[in-house]
Amino acid sequence: MKVHVYEKAFLWVGGVMLVLFLGALTYASLAMGIQLPGKVAQLDPAEVRSQPPFSEPGLRQVGENEYEAVVLGQIWSFAPSELRIPLGAKVTFIATSADVIHGLHIEGTRVNVMLIPGQISKVTYTFDEPGEHLMICHEYCGSGHHLMYGKVIVE
Ligand code: CUA
Repeated sequence: MKVHVYEKAFLWVGGVMLVLFLGALTYASLAMGIQLPGKVAQLDPAEVRSQPPFSEPGLRQVGENEYEAVVLGQIWSFAPSELRIPLGAKVTFIATSADVIHGLHIEGTRVNVMLIPGQISKVTYTFDEPGEHLMICHEYCGSGHHLMYGKVIVE
């Protein structure tokens, strides 16, 4: 079969790009440890409010300038609606939803996860600059979606 020289070149470019991108993905996940925020555990959404850690949402210190922030999304608010974080703190967000699918995005940071009912999402971020960030729900979750926001204050 005769393959035109341009067609051959195009196939090679496509093939080389595939290998490059797969290599970059492998390098990012294995060598640099970059992972998508993963599913950590699954709870029964109806029980979420009464089960630890979501029975007591909020910020707690777990090490020297290391914190855990337990955040619960529900129609149409976050619990807690305000987080005060010390400057330079490394915070692991542990979050879920008690009812429908919500989102948790903290403006100006890499914290951006979906809150799936009962599924625990974890993401870690270090707050290096003082200031205020809006914490918003980025998944349409009903008529009060636009009212679902909170605040993160780095001080
Ligand atoms: Cu919760 Cu939109």
